[in-house]
Amino acid sequence: MKRGYQESSSSGSFGPPHSKFKYNPEGDAQFLEDDNTKIFAKKVADHYSARTNQTLEEREASPIIHLKKLNNWIKSVLIQLYAKRGDAVLDLACGKGGDLIKWDKARIGYYVGIDIADGSTAAHDIMVMRTITNAAKKFSFPARLICGDCFEVRLDKVLAEDAPFDVCSCQFAMHYSWSTEARARRALANVSALLRPGGIFIGTMPDANVIVKKLREAEGLQFGNSVYWIRFDEEFENKDAVDCPEWIVPFHVFKTLAEEYGLELVFVKNSHVFVDEYMKKPEFVELMRRLGALGDGKEDQSTLSPDEWEVAYLYLAFVLRKVES
Ligand SMILES: C[S@@+](CC[C@H](N)C(=O)[O-])C[C@H]1O[C@@H](n2cnc3c(N)ncnc32)[C@H](O)[C@@H]1O
Repeated sequence: MKRGYQESSSSGSFGPPHSKFKYNPEGDAQFLEDDNTKIFAKKVADHYSARTNQTLEEREASPIIHLKKLNNWIKSVLIQLYAKRGDAVLDLACGKGGDLIKWDKARIGYYVGIDIADGSTAAHDIMVMRTITNAAKKFSFPARLICGDCFEVRLDKVLAEDAPFDVCSCQFAMHYSWSTEARARRALANVSALLRPGGIFIGTMPDANVIVKKLREAEGLQFGNSVYWIRFDEEFENKDAVDCPEWIVPFHVFKTLAEEYGLELVFVKNSHVFVDEYMKKPEFVELMRRLGALGDGKEDQSTLSPDEWEVAYLYLAFVLRKVES
């Protein structure tokens, strides 16, 4: 396999990415001076680092177990639709590598996963990318898991030897890039620079349309149900009670910005629509049965509670394609 990499290097030459990538030095400088942004990124990193691995029993006992299974089904469907045998995959905000098995099923050829959380609450420099493991031995493809901030670091420098990728994925995390325009641009510039022309970017994130609609219907700045709540802050400084700050991404703005970086929309679907549409296909019905989000179709009739189903409605799935230059 041709793939190699440079260890932890933040130096080196930075060639202009392909296609319509627009380097934005002003935005970058602005970002680097923005302490709030760094604090939020650190807070997100600490939040996810502090999460411990659950046992199977703990996981099954979760009040949102069916929602988690549904989310796994959505990610699996996206992967099965767009990943091909031998593909090189870049997984932004990959978490603890929980999706590796899904990629393995798609028989991919190479995998790089990056996440800001490294499983430790110890302070770490989120500006630096470092490889935390070089191979996922259980899988049939070479894999790198890297700790770093993929919405700030110039990944085309760090991953110069690994690129181009056929598929880029960012699951349930793209909204973390939306804290400043510079970070949102960096995220999309990274994707654009690393995907080959015609390469695919798949993702899932909160559906701003639904969230804003719910906010309008709510009495105050807060709404939710038994398994989630969302509170909107008027002041970003006043974050003390918030475990993990999140941002909403108006999809039309995301789409327009993505186009600037040569990424054209293939589709965007709210999760409810996504489920409705792909549950018409027998292979994905079977996948849903295996994952168990809607029970196993036999004795196990357990399924998402109405409250879990409402949470699913808060998310969307998108697919973008890097334009051929
Ligand atoms: C909801 S989890 C999703 C994890 C994984 N993609 C999945 O679908 O299971 C969000 C992930 O985004 C990661 N994350 C948030 N901001 C990030 C950043 N700036 N750079 C890299 N990872 C980030 C978090 O550490 C966390 O693992």
